[in-house]
Parts: sequence; C-alpha cells; structure tokens
Amino acid sequence: MFESTNLDLFPYPFHNIKEGSNYRYSNDLRKLDKDRMNCVRVTPEYAKQIKRKRELLIEQPNVRFQSYPHTMEMQWEVAEMLMTMAVEAHPEHFKLEKNGNHWTFHNFILNEQESFIFGDASSIELEPLDLIGRHFATDFVLMVNRDDNLYLEVAQESYAALFSPHWNKGMTFDEIHGPVPFVSRTGVPLAERVRQFLLTNVLPGEPWTRINWNLMANRWDVNYETHDTWGPTRHLVHAENAGELVRLRVEEQFFYRMPRSNAILFVLNTQFLAMKDLAQRPEWLNQTYSILSDIPKPMADYKGFTPFIEPTVEYLKNLVEKVSLQAK
Ligand code: HEM
Repeated sequence: MFESTNLDLFPYPFHNIKEGSNYRYSNDLRKLDKDRMNCVRVTPEYAKQIKRKRELLIEQPNVRFQSYPHTMEMQWEVAEMLMTMAVEAHPEHFKLEKNGNHWTFHNFILNEQESFIFGDASSIELEPLDLIGRHFATDFVLMVNRDDNLYLEVAQESYAALFSPHWNKGMTFDEIHGPVPFVSRTGVPLAERVRQFLLTNVLPGEPWTRINWNLMANRWDVNYETHDTWGPTRHLVHAENAGELVRLRVEEQFFYRMPRSNAILFVLNTQFLAMKDLAQRPEWLNQTYSILSDIPKPMADYKGFTPFIEPTVEYLKNLVEKVSLQAK
C-alpha cells in the first residue's frame, strides 16, 4: 500500500484553521484558482495507488463501481473531461489521439493504451467512467441534479471512509449525509445549506474544493461491507505504536459542474500520512496535536476513531515534546 512521501504534495487539512483554534464542521468550500482547477495528480505513489485501486475494483466489483444504465452519456462526458485534463496537466505522461470518433488514450507511465469509439459503450468492455477512471488515482462520484437535489448515480471508489457506491447508489445529498453529525460550531444543521450552496455556486468552469480528514488505524479503506475486518484493528493502537499504525487520512475534494449533463462531479484525492511523519513538519505536528486534543465525542464516534483517539493524542504529545527538545 502507499503513504505520502512527498509532503509538498500532501493536502494538509488544517491550513485554513487559525493557530490555536479547534476543528468543527462548516461550509469550508473554496473556489479553485485558475491554475488549480485540474484534479489530475501524479504523485510518487501513482503506480502503487493505481495497482491497489484496480485490485479492489476486481475483488469487489459491485461494491466499488455502480451506475444506472441511463448514465452512459454522462459517463462519456466525464471520461472526456478527465482525459483532457490528464493531457493538459501531464503531456509527458498522457496523450489523447482523435481520429473522428475513434480515440486512443495513451498512459505512458503504465505503458497502456485504451482505444474506443467515443460515445459507443459497445466498443469497450467496462463502462466509460469505470474504464477511464482506472487510469487515475482519485475516486469519482457523479451527482445528478434533479428537483433541487443531487442524486448519486455513478461512482467508482477505492479508498472509502464509511461509504461505497453499492451502499450509497441512488441516495440524495441529504440522505448521504444523514449519518454525519453535520452541525456548525453553533449547532446549525449544515446539510441543506451546503446542498443549496453547491447547486448555486458550482457552475461550469467554476470548480470548488474542500479537504476532508479522518484517522485510520492500520487501514487505508473502510466501508460498511467490511466492518468485520477493520473494526477490530482500531483496538490494537497504543501510545507506543500509534506513530506507525495511525494515519492521517485526507481527502482533497473537487466539485465540477458538468456543462452538458448539469451533474456535479465529485472527485476525491485520498492521501495518507503516518503520525510519525508529522515530525517532518513541526508546525503540522503541533497543530494536529492541538486539534485532535479537542474533538467533540459525536464527531469522533461518527469518524470511527473513538477507540484509538486517546493513545494517538498521547503519542502526539510525546512527539511534540521530543521534537521541541531536538530543536533546542
Ligand atoms: C456532492 C458531493 C458530495 C458527496 C457525494 C458527498 C458524499 C459524502 C459521503 C459518502 C460521506 C460519508 C457519509 C457516511 O458516513 O455514510 C460524506 C461525509 C461528509 N461530507 Fe460529504 N459529500 C459531498 C459534498 C460535501 C460538501 C460540499 C461538504 C461540506 C461543505 C461535505 C461535508 C461532509 C462532511 C463534514 C462529512 C463527514 C466526514 C467526516 O467527518 O469524516 N460533503 N460525504
């Protein structure tokens, strides 16, 4: 499996939290600047991530990819956007050749190519987003806009935090967020507010972003279908091994309004940083220690880290002391 090795590429989740402040849910969406709109990321872990993503898709195809039959055209639209972005971001790694509707997408990192008739699902063996999505380390969710709401109609997912295409297919934005204690610092319910914000502000050519985070105990992926395997690992953590076993799990999220279908594409770049590696950035270490020391119980319960938050905070406290002694 993989962990972030280039910290410059790691989407540290607490950059926008003022020093000394704690973490609470909020509408933390930010509009992307022109030079940050491309969601295609090639990190040093790219090949490892793709390998694992494909293994998971093969092991649990129905858990990891779901769609409705009427979404083919929308999927082609997304596939086209992703291939175009890949070539724009990394012409040295990707190329798209078009000969009328006969297209070939080249992936030079993996030495692979996909040839198909654009728009013709019978020319490929997988569905369009399932095929093209396997060239990107990110996960994808397509939320279709109907009746003032967003419905999950296509998803390809490999690094889940309490979610799966199989579990969530067909749900509305509000239903998906039902289990989340989604209230602001002052107790205001957020789901409807955030949905309205997305519907109004995520416009074609104007993507938005936010960062979600969690802690994982010796796991990269937790969904409801595999609770029996990951549930018990959370009890293995103690203050001595938390540096190795516990990872800060971060999702850099992107929201794109698709111009043709009007759906919102939700892209998740999931990265992991072992607690011990926080020592490489003492300012991150101090802030993460401070934030994790003050997580409300309903949030810790929802995120699933109640069984190991105490030893993790104790580990970080010791690490903060060690790093500050070394700096003297
Ligand atoms: C339309 C795109 C979105 C989709 C498909 C989506 C999907 C999800 C899913 C599947 C979960 C896990 C739910 C579960 O536990 O069963 C979740 C959690 C959550 N979502 Fe969203 N979400 C979207 C947009 C947003 C936005 C725009 C915000 C905030 C501005 C947001 C805030 C949250 C929060 C705070 C959680 C709890 C996560 C945690 O504490 O670890 N979501 N979302």
